[in-house]
Amino acid sequence: MTKPRIFSVSNQKGGVGKTTTTVNLATALAAMEKRVLIIDLDPQGNATVSVGAKRTKGAQNSYTVLMGSDNVMDAVRETDIPYLYILPASKELLGVDLELASTGAPQFYLKTALKDLDSFDYVFVDCPPAVGLLTMNALVASDYVIIPVQCEYLALEGVADLMKTIQKVKKNFNPSLQLHGIVLTMFDGRSNLSKSIVSDVKEFFKDQVYDTLIPRNVRIPEAPSHGKPVMIYDMRSVGAKSYIRLAAEVLNREKELLANG
Ligand SMILES: Nc1ncnc2c1ncn2[C@@H]1O[C@H](COP(=O)(O)OP(=O)(O)OP(=O)(O)O)[C@@H](O)[C@H]1O
Ligand SMILES: [Mg+2]
Repeated sequence: MTKPRIFSVSNQKGGVGKTTTTVNLATALAAMEKRVLIIDLDPQGNATVSVGAKRTKGAQNSYTVLMGSDNVMDAVRETDIPYLYILPASKELLGVDLELASTGAPQFYLKTALKDLDSFDYVFVDCPPAVGLLTMNALVASDYVIIPVQCEYLALEGVADLMKTIQKVKKNFNPSLQLHGIVLTMFDGRSNLSKSIVSDVKEFFKDQVYDTLIPRNVRIPEAPSHGKPVMIYDMRSVGAKSYIRLAAEVLNREKELLANG
């Protein structure tokens, strides 16, 4: 029994590749026979659908687990992919900010819910595009944060705020939280804007940026409508291959981070 390493995939900016990164990184690690759990903490439920599960209401899901009414292992489901499991989302997550606001320690619900989780190597929490209590709960429960940044105009909008949030969480709630890395997504090699964003982000965040660039690839938006990660939908696509490379880099970086204490 191992205690899992928990990653939040977060950026309050919408549509930057959080869910795509969560699902495909998780699938790539599952393909390496790591036991991986995706926690869909976004009421949109995109990660849930992307692995072929259903967003559920009234059943056991990430909302009922977060609120403490269900045990996490009772709510986790298998996917069609060996080694990959999902804790599906529910629309009821939409009400969490209001529901938890009046409680004593609203940031600690997910951490508490996951405290005895020992059947996975990795957990990836897909965060919603907001810095509300859902994201707070994810950061407080996590060892690491991965920030996807889209290679588009205003790419870094909000990232400075997210960095401040991470610092605040570290200081007040979770001293061991670490930025694992920044992943540049939807890179278009023919676009000068895309290239200049890559160099700006690398200049600013230096080696915190993963070497692997995720290119824009049509197979990626096609895959979720088939309820499959792109790696399963089209293994040979550049999208799939880039996420396999990213997974290898994530594993290497984890070793470095552990070695540096
Ligand atoms: N590398 C890529 N190439 C082409 N399309 C992509 C790529 N990555 C993501 N997309 C598409 O861009 C859209 C947004 O991606 P995704 O849902 O992963 O972002 P998100 O940050 O999770 O969004 P939200 O903030 O709404 O949760 C999706 O339609 C997705 O399929
Ligand atoms: Mg998403």
